[in-house]
Amino acid sequence: MAITTDKKSNMKILVACEYSGRVRDAFLALGHDAMSCDLLPTETEGPHHMGDVLELLHMGWDLMIAHPPCTHLAVSGSRWFKDKVKEQAEALIFVQTLMDAPINRIALENPISVISSRIRKPDQIVQPWQFGHGETKATCLWLKNLPKLTPTNIVGGREAVVHRMPPGPDRWKNRSRTYQGVANAMAAQWSNLQ
Ligand SMILES: C[S@@+](CC[C@H](N)C(=O)[O-])C[C@H]1O[C@@H](n2cnc3c(N)ncnc32)[C@H](O)[C@@H]1O
Repeated sequence: MAITTDKKSNMKILVACEYSGRVRDAFLALGHDAMSCDLLPTETEGPHHMGDVLELLHMGWDLMIAHPPCTHLAVSGSRWFKDKVKEQAEALIFVQTLMDAPINRIALENPISVISSRIRKPDQIVQPWQFGHGETKATCLWLKNLPKLTPTNIVGGREAVVHRMPPGPDRWKNRSRTYQGVANAMAAQWSNLQ
């Protein structure tokens, strides 16, 4: 697959492990050439590659924002770590491969996880309430050649609403969509950097 653009100032952006389309659409709205990639189909219409993101890393992107699965990495599930040593090792290799991708600017996002102890500490931890959503969900960012995100709209409300979502087959999906305010901040603050 070739990635082409007519407008030279546009950035070519890969949003790895995204089915919601939220970060992709925030960059598209600013006129950039953004594409999401996930093993799942995209929930909203837009440029999307359904498949393994590892096949796309060498395609000349200016920026990658990656949301790798946290299932075997998040410390909230640490009581299960002893039963999934192999899965965790594979998940860490996936994260390290994304971090090492030949792309000039990279942001990798995950909750509080063993990435911090096994690979390196995050550059920043953000909360949805810093970006217009009155909820708590500590989100770590590992950054390469990117500035830390500046909060855009600090609001009240400090409830961990995601943890009270009803059980069901879509619970994990509803918990893991990137907050729109965070997606908008990424697009606004990580576009056209010098
Ligand atoms: C925690 S979710 C991230 C969701 C994201 N924040 C969003 O708003 O869509 C992790 C996603 O990684 C995807 N994934 C796992 N391995 C992948 C791979 N090798 N290539 C592409 N996507 C992958 C999963 O299908 C899952 O949807």
